[in-house]
Amino acid sequence: MTRVIATAGKGGTGKTTTAAVITRVLIDAGKRPVLAVDADANANLGELLGIDVDKTLGAVREDFMVERAGLPPGMTKEAFLEMKLMSAVVETDDVDMLVMGRPEGQGCYCAANNVLRAYMEKLQENYPVVMMDNEAGLEHISRMTTRKPDALLLVADHARRGIEAAHRIRGLIDELGLQVNRVGLVINRVPASGLDPRVEELARSTGLELLAVLPEDEEVARYDLDHRSVFELPAGNAFVTAVRGLVEDLQLTD
Ligand SMILES: Nc1ncnc2c1ncn2[C@@H]1O[C@H](COP(=O)(O)OP(=O)(O)OP(=O)(O)O)[C@@H](O)[C@H]1O
Ligand SMILES: [Mg+2]
Repeated sequence: MTRVIATAGKGGTGKTTTAAVITRVLIDAGKRPVLAVDADANANLGELLGIDVDKTLGAVREDFMVERAGLPPGMTKEAFLEMKLMSAVVETDDVDMLVMGRPEGQGCYCAANNVLRAYMEKLQENYPVVMMDNEAGLEHISRMTTRKPDALLLVADHARRGIEAAHRIRGLIDELGLQVNRVGLVINRVPASGLDPRVEELARSTGLELLAVLPEDEEVARYDLDHRSVFELPAGNAFVTAVRGLVEDLQLTD
């Protein structure tokens, strides 16, 4: 059965870094292939995973809207679009990657979106775990085009506003009646001295389950600056080790 894990949270809190390292830890544990989905219009998950993606699902959909008038004989629009969507999946040994790209522009994309949704559903079934990275903010929550996640990680930094943003997203999920099995807080960039008692108290007051505390890590920041993928981080790296704990807690490697 496929498990879909998704990130959400305030801008710059470490959603993509966490998603990338979860992917790496899963692969280390033999859970592969992982389907990594970048649902951020400003996509950069591929960069952290060391995967080049040159075609987004959004671009494929745009192409289809233009090309659909001249289909190969005998081919339905659905089959044609599905074939084109398939070409957007980048396959590597351990990770397959899909970048959603920008949301559609003007015009009616309903038919294309229906095929896209059905295609995503079917595609996800091929993987034990789908790791979906989202953009900052609340908007994507209300237009979740893909399957509802089994676990939603609300990533906050070690600061008040990050945790408040996570709390707001939780509220929106309830408001929209979205079905998510497990929603929890991940506090990232926690100093070596540990959680500040005020941050801890604020986190507690949200009522959110605290899923993980991830350390501020100089190596993570440096590798990012050097364009090195998360697969190059040493296995004993403190951030990787903490994410391993999160993955175990979510029982993703069972
Ligand atoms: N635990 C950490 N220790 C050190 N640096 C970190 C840590 N987590 C994230 N960073 C750095 O913080 C920056 C932002 O991280 P990241 O891109 O993962 O955040 P994001 O939440 O995905 O941002 P956005 O909202 O723009 O998508 C990056 O430069 C990353 O390397
Ligand atoms: Mg990001």
